[in-house]
Amino acid sequence: MNNRKIRVVVAGKGGVGKTTLTALLAHAFSRRGMRVLAVDGDPQANLAATLGIPALHPITPLSEQKAYIQEKIGGVPGRGGFMVLNPDIADVADRFAVPAGERIRLLVMGGVRNAGSGCLCPEYTLISTILASTGCLPDEVILLDTPAGLEHFGRAVAQGFNCALIVTDASYNARSVARDLSRLARQCGIRDVILVFNRMHSGSDLKEIAEEMEGLFLDIRSMPHDPCLPRCEPSVVPVVEGECPVMKRVNSLAEFILSRD
Ligand SMILES: Nc1ncnc2c1ncn2[C@@H]1O[C@H](COP(=O)(O)OP(=O)(O)OP(=O)(O)O)[C@@H](O)[C@H]1O
Ligand SMILES: [Mg+2]
Repeated sequence: MNNRKIRVVVAGKGGVGKTTLTALLAHAFSRRGMRVLAVDGDPQANLAATLGIPALHPITPLSEQKAYIQEKIGGVPGRGGFMVLNPDIADVADRFAVPAGERIRLLVMGGVRNAGSGCLCPEYTLISTILASTGCLPDEVILLDTPAGLEHFGRAVAQGFNCALIVTDASYNARSVARDLSRLARQCGIRDVILVFNRMHSGSDLKEIAEEMEGLFLDIRSMPHDPCLPRCEPSVVPVVEGECPVMKRVNSLAEFILSRD
């Protein structure tokens, strides 16, 4: 075991495969013997099902853990009041993360009202503090799945994460969002910004995308369109265990991320 702390945020346009990639990578790192914390930063919260947690175990998101929010931040969730702006959150995963496979645990953040208006409500303060302080958490690997667009927590994410995986598919709009996110991530100061071209069909031209993205990314990786994924939905576990074609690329991406540290 080593002391490496891999902190990866996964971003991209809606529906391009962010949650799928987050879950596949969680398994890839855990299979390398590393302890993984998967963080669901999407209010729609479907990382649990994707990691293979059955729906009969509903998870209370952190944004609804009122006693914890009160303990750490003060103020009244949704209403404000006096707040502690730099709470010690090192215990958050030990208290609220749920088991999600061997060496994998999952922390569900939940939704924050009015996040877009930059509100300083206690839930927002707590979640952004956690995202900015991932170094305090013991897990060797932290993977953050995000909703489409990560502007709300951009600054906090930049403090807590040193690798951004920007996912795209072949569509014009997804590629355009990927370019914007690359600029945003680099402006924020995230060290390694990597493009993942997902759902590539055989015959797709990676050279064309490489030209279009020239200078924007540290590296460009591709993932094949893999029929195993929709067939096994929602869980990726059979995909991982069955060594489906996509796993080869996911493993190689995990190795690349490890090599950067
Ligand atoms: N490489 C792939 N091959 C085939 N299907 C894929 C692949 N990657 C993802 N998918 C499928 O694409 C769909 C969308 O994936 P996913 O939910 O991971 O996207 P998302 O970016 O997280 O979406 P959202 O923005 O709604 O959170 C799912 O049905 C998933 O199984
Ligand atoms: Mg998703």
